[in-house]
Amino acid sequence: MPSIGSIHRALRFAIVATLIGAAALTSPLAAETGAEAWLRYSKLNPRAAEVYRRLPDRVVLLDDSLVLKTAQQELSRGLEQMLGRALQVESSSVKRSSFAGKAIVLGTMKDLHVLSSTLRPPHELSGDGYWLKSAKIHGSECLIVAGGTDRGVLYGVFALLSNISRAERPAAVDLATLDLATMDEEQQPYAAVRWVNQWDNLDGRIERGYGGPSIFFAEGKVRSDLIRAGRYARLLASIGINGCTINNVNAAPGILEDSFIEQVGRIAEVFRPWGVQLSLSVDLSSPKVMGGLDTFDPLDPRVAEWWRKKADEIYRRIPDFGGFVVKADSEGRLGPSTYGRTPADAANVIARALKPHGGVVFYRAFVYNHHLDWHDLKNDRAKAAYDNFHPLDGAFDDNVIIQIKNGPIDFQVREPASPLFAGLRRTNEAIELQITQEYTGQQRHLCFLVPMWKEVMDFDMRVHDIRADAPDGPVKDLVAGRVFHRPTGGFVGVANLGMDANWMGSPLAMANLYGFGRLAWDPNLSAEKIIDEWTRLTFGGDPLVVKTITAMQLSSWHVYESYTGPLGVGTLTNIVGNHYDPGPQSSEENGWGQWHRADHQGIGMDRTVATGTGYIGQYPPEVQTLYESLAKCPDELLLFFHHVPYGYVLHSGKTVVQHVYDSHYEGADQARGFVSQWKGIEGHIDEERYRDILARFQYQAGQAVVWRDAICKWIYGLSGIQDEKGRVGINSRK
Ligand code: GCU
Repeated sequence: MPSIGSIHRALRFAIVATLIGAAALTSPLAAETGAEAWLRYSKLNPRAAEVYRRLPDRVVLLDDSLVLKTAQQELSRGLEQMLGRALQVESSSVKRSSFAGKAIVLGTMKDLHVLSSTLRPPHELSGDGYWLKSAKIHGSECLIVAGGTDRGVLYGVFALLSNISRAERPAAVDLATLDLATMDEEQQPYAAVRWVNQWDNLDGRIERGYGGPSIFFAEGKVRSDLIRAGRYARLLASIGINGCTINNVNAAPGILEDSFIEQVGRIAEVFRPWGVQLSLSVDLSSPKVMGGLDTFDPLDPRVAEWWRKKADEIYRRIPDFGGFVVKADSEGRLGPSTYGRTPADAANVIARALKPHGGVVFYRAFVYNHHLDWHDLKNDRAKAAYDNFHPLDGAFDDNVIIQIKNGPIDFQVREPASPLFAGLRRTNEAIELQITQEYTGQQRHLCFLVPMWKEVMDFDMRVHDIRADAPDGPVKDLVAGRVFHRPTGGFVGVANLGMDANWMGSPLAMANLYGFGRLAWDPNLSAEKIIDEWTRLTFGGDPLVVKTITAMQLSSWHVYESYTGPLGVGTLTNIVGNHYDPGPQSSEENGWGQWHRADHQGIGMDRTVATGTGYIGQYPPEVQTLYESLAKCPDELLLFFHHVPYGYVLHSGKTVVQHVYDSHYEGADQARGFVSQWKGIEGHIDEERYRDILARFQYQAGQAVVWRDAICKWIYGLSGIQDEKGRVGINSRK
C-alpha cells in the first residue's frame, strides 16, 4: 500500500490541479478558443509577404463548377488574410486564344489541356490528386493549380495556402532562396476512401463526443442553422477528407423517414461546395421497424425492394450521396443473424440498392458477442472480427467495404493490428481509427494518436511470406487495396466534433483530426512532419513554440499509456462506466470480453495457439511466430498475448510488476512536466490559448497522479510484491 503521507500529498496535488483544470474547462474562455483550428491564415511577416507578393494577383477559373468556385473563394480569402491583398477573379470557360497575362490558374487537367496541350505533370493525375506548378502560359508567368477532379483543385489550393502559411516564419524556410518560379508539387491521395464518421444522435447528443452537442441535429431534427456544418466540411476538405457519415453507428431507424431525408438533404447542401460526400448510418432492421414490412431478412425480395426504393428516394434528394454505414449483430443491435443470414447477405442487399447510383456500403467488422462466458479461458472477444468475416472473404459485392477497427478489441491505448486486415484478400477493406479520445483521455489528457496509428498502418502482415527483409503487406497498403488490387478501400476516422467553438473540447486535440486527414492522404508522412505542419498552422512558426508543442505532442501517447494501460494489458479504465477513470476490475467477470485476467498469480490474456485462446493463429505464419513466442513478443504487447507471473522478467530487464510501478511514476512525472514545458512558451503565443491550455495540463497532471496511485495500489494488492523503490507497498518510504 502507498504510505498515508504519499496518498495525502498525491491527493492534494490531484485535487488542486483538478479543480484549477475543471474550472478552466468549463469557462466561457475555453469555449471561444481555437475555432479557426489550423486555417488561421495569419498575416505574413514582412519578409515572407515580400516573397509571396510575387504571386500573380489575378485568378482564372477554367470552369464554373461549385467546387472550383469554392477553391477560388478560399484562395482569395487566404491570400487576402495573409498578404492583405485582394485577388482579381476571372471566372469563365477560358479559350486558348484569349488567355493572356500573369494569373493563378485553377482547373482540372482536362480543362488545362484546352489551354495548353503541353503542360502535364510527371505522372498522370488520377482521382483527387493535384499539381502545383509555376509555368509560362502563352508567355505569361502563371501558377497552375490543377486537379484530377474539381476536388483535386480544391485540395491543391489548400496545399498552396498551407505552404504559404507555414513558410511565413524564417525558421521554416530560407526565404532568401525561396523561388516561386520553381514551384512543382504533385500529390496523389493514397486511397479513394478518406472518410470521417460522426456518432451524432438525432436528439443532439454525440456518443463519445467531448466537444459539445451535435452540429447537425437538435431535438430530433436537423438544425435550422447549419453554418457550423459548412465550416466543418471546410476543415475536412482542407486535409483531403472526402466523405462524412453524420449519424451514430447505433443508428435511429427514423433517419430513413422520408421527411428526415428531406432535412438531411440540407446538410448535403452545405457539404457539397467542399467536395464532402454525405452518408448515413442505417439500422438493418429499418425495413421492418419503420418500413412497414413484417421482416428485414436480407434474402427476402420485399426487403431488397424496400432498400432499392429507399436508395432511389435518397438519390433523388441527394444526387452525390455517398452510401450507408452498417453496425449489425453488435452490442445489442439487430442483424442478419436474426434470420440465420450472414453479414455478406446483409451487406449485399443494401449494396445492390446503392450500386446503380455509385454508392457504397461500409459494413463494420465490429461484430461480437458481448455476453461471452468469462469463466471459459478459451473465450476471446479479440477473435470475433476474423471469425465472422474471414470465412466470407470474396462473398461481398464490389461496392461493399469492410470497416475494421485498428485493433481487435476496441480503440484501447495499445493493441496489435487486427488480423482481419490480412484475412480479406478478395474483399474491400478500410481501417477505422478513433479520432475522438474515448479511451485515451477524452480530450482532457493530451494524447496525439498519429504515432499509434502509424505503428498499426506500418505493421507488416507478411501476407506473402516471401523474404524476411521484404515488407509485403503493411496494413496501410492492405486497406488501400494495393496489395490485393481491390477497386476501393482506405481510411475512416471517428471524429465526433461538436458545437464547442474549438470543435473537440480542446484546441490541442484537433491535431488528431488534422493528423488523421494527412495520414489518410499519405500514410507515409512521418508523425514529426504532420505535427510540425499542424503546430505551425495552428500556433505560428516561433521556433520555441514549434519545438515545445511538437515535442509534447509526440511524447503524449507514451506518457498517457505509461500511467494508464501498460504492456498491452488493454484498458484499465472503467469500462462499464465512463471509459475515463481508472477502474481495472471493471473489465473482469462480465461478458464484455475486455479481460486482462489479473489475479494473485499473474496477469495478461493467454492468446497463444499452444495454451491459450488461439487468437494468434489468426495472423499469417510469420506474425504468429513473433507473437506466440514469449522470447520474441515485444514488451509493449506482452500482456495482450500472454499470461505471465508478476515476477516475469521483460526484455527491458525489469519484472512486470516493477515495470508497472516505474512506468506509472514516470508517466505521472512526465504529465507534470507538461505543465512546466507549457509555461516555457508563455508570451510566445496568444494569452487566451496559453491560459486555456495551461489549465488543461494542470488538470491532466492531477489526473495522472490519481491514475498512478489507483493502478499501483491495485497491482500491489493483487501481487503482494513491493516496489523496489519504496513508493508502493507496506514499507513505502513516501
Ligand atoms: C465502443 C463505444 C461505443 C460504440 C462502439 C462502436 O464500444 O464505446 O459507444 O458504439 O464502440 O464502435 O460501435
